[in-house]
Amino acid sequence: MVAQIIDGTRIAAQIREQLSFRISGLKVSGVTPGLAVILVGNDPASESYVRGKGRAAEELGIYSRQINLPETISEDELIRQVDYLNADPKIHGILVQSPLPSHLDENKVILRIDPAKDVDGFHPMNVGKMLIGVPGLLPATPHGIQELLLRTGNDPGGKHVVVVGRSNLVGKPVAAILVQKAKGANATVTICHSRTADLAKHTMQADILIAAMGKPRFITADMVKEGAVVIDVGVTREEDPLAKKGYRLVGDVDFEAVSRKAKAITPVPGGVGPMTVAMLMVNTVSAAEEQTHRNQSKRV
Ligand code: GUN
Repeated sequence: MVAQIIDGTRIAAQIREQLSFRISGLKVSGVTPGLAVILVGNDPASESYVRGKGRAAEELGIYSRQINLPETISEDELIRQVDYLNADPKIHGILVQSPLPSHLDENKVILRIDPAKDVDGFHPMNVGKMLIGVPGLLPATPHGIQELLLRTGNDPGGKHVVVVGRSNLVGKPVAAILVQKAKGANATVTICHSRTADLAKHTMQADILIAAMGKPRFITADMVKEGAVVIDVGVTREEDPLAKKGYRLVGDVDFEAVSRKAKAITPVPGGVGPMTVAMLMVNTVSAAEEQTHRNQSKRV
């Protein structure tokens, strides 16, 4: 079998185009959605992700503000910056790029973000809503994975989804989203991780396999069922002197071999990555709509 390549770049463009109508609607009522991204330090990969988010926002007519803070910033000062953005009516969405330097407690910072502006969906209030199936801001990468599946005719309903990786960023939330009793979900979900015994026994059972552990080319063809749908969330930079940038991006899946066995597969780059950015834009617009609605109700 030769796999269909799931084109995340094209699907993300589709989502942004649909979103532009909602942005126009907000602008008619005098509101420009605003996104603030806090970047601490100079990690090149984080810098590149943050640039991508800012560019996507500007292209859509979303007001974008990037706040660069030094690696040595104190937790108190970082929290002051969050408070400042919480109080700024021009900002509807706040994102603190992770990972943070080790002297900063990421959970403490996330807890400080106004849940209504938490466009990453990382605040416990939003995580709780996701878990119990109440509408709220969903984390961008897991939500993007669900959209990729649905928009390529791979509804997870009744399917066995095997997630490899248990991070708060991807593994746990994607499992929570896909297991919901809801349209576009209803999957049977298994979560595997570094302590799982006989990992291949589990991955071989997957109708939909989601690789999110950050280990380049870890999922090999012998771990995948013939005809499975494979979603590769891994992005590792590997040195490559022949590449223009001096590195290339490698996923968690051995793409060459697995694409000969899978029914459909996401490439790296161009699969899940662009969806993360698109869903962040969706959350920013949803947050702006919700805050606008709330303010209008207050005035009545
Ligand atoms: N680092 C890698 N992915 C993400 C993300 O989706 N949000 C934030 N805040 N940091 C990240």
